[in-house]
Amino acid sequence: MSSTIRRVGILTAGGDAPGLNAVIRGFGKTVINRYGMEVVGFRDGVKGLVENRYVDLTSATLAGILTTGGTILGTSRDKVNKYVVDGETVNMTGVVRENLERLGVDALVMLGGGGTAKNAKQLMDAGVNVIALPKTIDNDIALTDTSFGFATAMEIATEAVDRLHSTAHSHHRIILAEIMGHRAGWLSLGAGIAGGADIILIPEIPYTVESVAATIKARMARGSTFSVVAVAEGARDTKDAADYQAARLLVDAAKTPEAQRAARAHLANVEDSQREHTFKLARELEASTGLETRVTILGYVQRGGTPCAEDRLLATRLGSAAADLVHQGHFGVLVAARGQSSEPVPLEEVAGKLKLVPEGHDWIETARKVGTGLGD
Ligand code: F6P
Repeated sequence: MSSTIRRVGILTAGGDAPGLNAVIRGFGKTVINRYGMEVVGFRDGVKGLVENRYVDLTSATLAGILTTGGTILGTSRDKVNKYVVDGETVNMTGVVRENLERLGVDALVMLGGGGTAKNAKQLMDAGVNVIALPKTIDNDIALTDTSFGFATAMEIATEAVDRLHSTAHSHHRIILAEIMGHRAGWLSLGAGIAGGADIILIPEIPYTVESVAATIKARMARGSTFSVVAVAEGARDTKDAADYQAARLLVDAAKTPEAQRAARAHLANVEDSQREHTFKLARELEASTGLETRVTILGYVQRGGTPCAEDRLLATRLGSAAADLVHQGHFGVLVAARGQSSEPVPLEEVAGKLKLVPEGHDWIETARKVGTGLGD
């Protein structure tokens, strides 16, 4: 069965990730060349949908972008139903629907992470024909094997861990490499294993300073007077992890708007107080081991620049699969990566869910088997 879609919109939302342009190209080329549709690209994520800012995407505009980093469309973290205007939160679902109707856009493809899947579901519930595609360097989107951006970020973080070894070794230092990943440990665990980090700390396994220091001291006893530690930005010691968890539970349990405001403010305070956790750990390790300790925050370097071959391939596969689904009129889904293929997964099964590293996951067990400390 083929749909009557003639004009389709696409946007990129949330933090940028390598591979976004490769998806725009893969999707755009397939719908234009194979299905004879027109494509409109909305600027700056949901912001462009609301403000009706867009650009026509043609074969010419799609040429030469496979290898480029970032997104040619721009991005933002705005939400459809919690759109902030002059400090006020407004539901823009109706505005978005009207804009799409006026432009004659019959379907919308949204490239983003968990937050974007929620936005997509919001629009789907309002009757928009929507498809989401899994983008994030964090690899934390539910029900997809992986997301584009992750492989490239893991390459970059791995190279950083590699390079930190020789300087840590030369100076007999501990070096903590703080790696992105939000509340998930995939990026740190993957790059830590691939880069041979001596210790890997991830949010899913709260650490104790004593355990981390013990691993470093055991290495010193064996003659290794340096250590490289891959620290996920979301990793916490057992006390901080418990404080964060308790604050999150308060938010979930708050019933009235006042209780919700208070619980959110408390959570923000807890998060603020934990912001410099990698530097705090560095001070604690220096005191405990006597080794000079340094911190390297990898930050946005992990998201920038050209996507690796694996991400270009994944992005092109998922983009063209989304085009097929548009043609078939199959909406309300995320195009999930499944092995060497893809599968549409209902948005309600993905929106608001987080894919964390499960207990006993093969990567965790692999790290343990090769003697990597996990801080527990
Ligand atoms: O989700 C991607 C990501 O880079 C996370 O790893 C990180 O926690 C977050 O985005 C940073 O967000 P922002 O770009 O808003 O600073």
